[in-house]
Amino acid sequence: MVKPTQYVIFDNISRDNISLLLNEFDKDLKNISGKCMDVGCGPGDITNDILLPFLDPNVTMIGTDIMEEMVEYANKTYGDKERLKFEALDIQTKKLPEKYISEFDHIFSFHVLQWCNDVHQTFRNIYHMLRPGKTMLISSIARQVPIFESLEAMAEDTRYAAYMGNKQKYVGSFHYSTRPYEELKEVLEDIGFQVHHCSHRNLSSFLNTQQFLSMITSQYTFAFLDKMPNNLREEFMNEFARRFDEKKDKEYKDRQSDYKLHDDIPFYYTVLVAYAQKCS
Ligand SMILES: C[S@@+](CC[C@H](N)C(=O)[O-])C[C@H]1O[C@@H](n2cnc3c(N)ncnc32)[C@H](O)[C@@H]1O
Repeated sequence: MVKPTQYVIFDNISRDNISLLLNEFDKDLKNISGKCMDVGCGPGDITNDILLPFLDPNVTMIGTDIMEEMVEYANKTYGDKERLKFEALDIQTKKLPEKYISEFDHIFSFHVLQWCNDVHQTFRNIYHMLRPGKTMLISSIARQVPIFESLEAMAEDTRYAAYMGNKQKYVGSFHYSTRPYEELKEVLEDIGFQVHHCSHRNLSSFLNTQQFLSMITSQYTFAFLDKMPNNLREEFMNEFARRFDEKKDKEYKDRQSDYKLHDDIPFYYTVLVAYAQKCS
């Protein structure tokens, strides 16, 4: 189920969102030099095609991801010995490898941290990997009803519960928060970051349910699908798509005064964006 190529084909939304964000923080990012990390780089296409070309040509980059398969694919497809390489790292680890400590001039992470329940450990690790005075730019999904709430319910369904484990894993840490950016800012400041920017943004995208779900389920969080017998996996995917569409339609309907359901309706979600600096 975990297929880097499947992810690459359908990641246009990520590419657009990241390009917009880089342009927004253009002035800060243009000054970066030295060694950067892209946390949760996935198959590495965005690290290679969008991040690296945006930065100073002297910048070197390590893309890291929890999935060995992604890292292997990324190294084979985009790795070069000079500017870009990929390594496996669980950003929630309690044992950060020594080689990463105080090593980086900037850390990026896009669309990853929603899958990290231990928010404090995650940002502490990012903090420890930065050199004093250096910065991070992250964007993470905050609220996303069709995905998070479908999975939360399915993790309690007796057919899937044994495979999925704790339902908390499938719901972003800020999904139910009534003050998401304030909470994120507090976490970052507790750790020692100076927060230059923290915001909560509404976004929407048009997407094909089957294609989108095939991208989503090609990630680490869905590794449990590999353990399911084929017929149960098929049942799971159908049920996930049904719930996803139901919630997507409901959200759309709730926002329309003259509701008329048609094929091409948007999918709403919110993101948290933070730009912060380790103290000198
Ligand atoms: C939605 S993809 C994002 C890929 C890319 N950054 C982008 O914006 O398109 C999320 C990635 O985070 C990785 N990931 C999930 N949990 C992680 C963790 N604890 N540590 C590092 N990577 C993780 C997944 O394996 C997946 O490749």
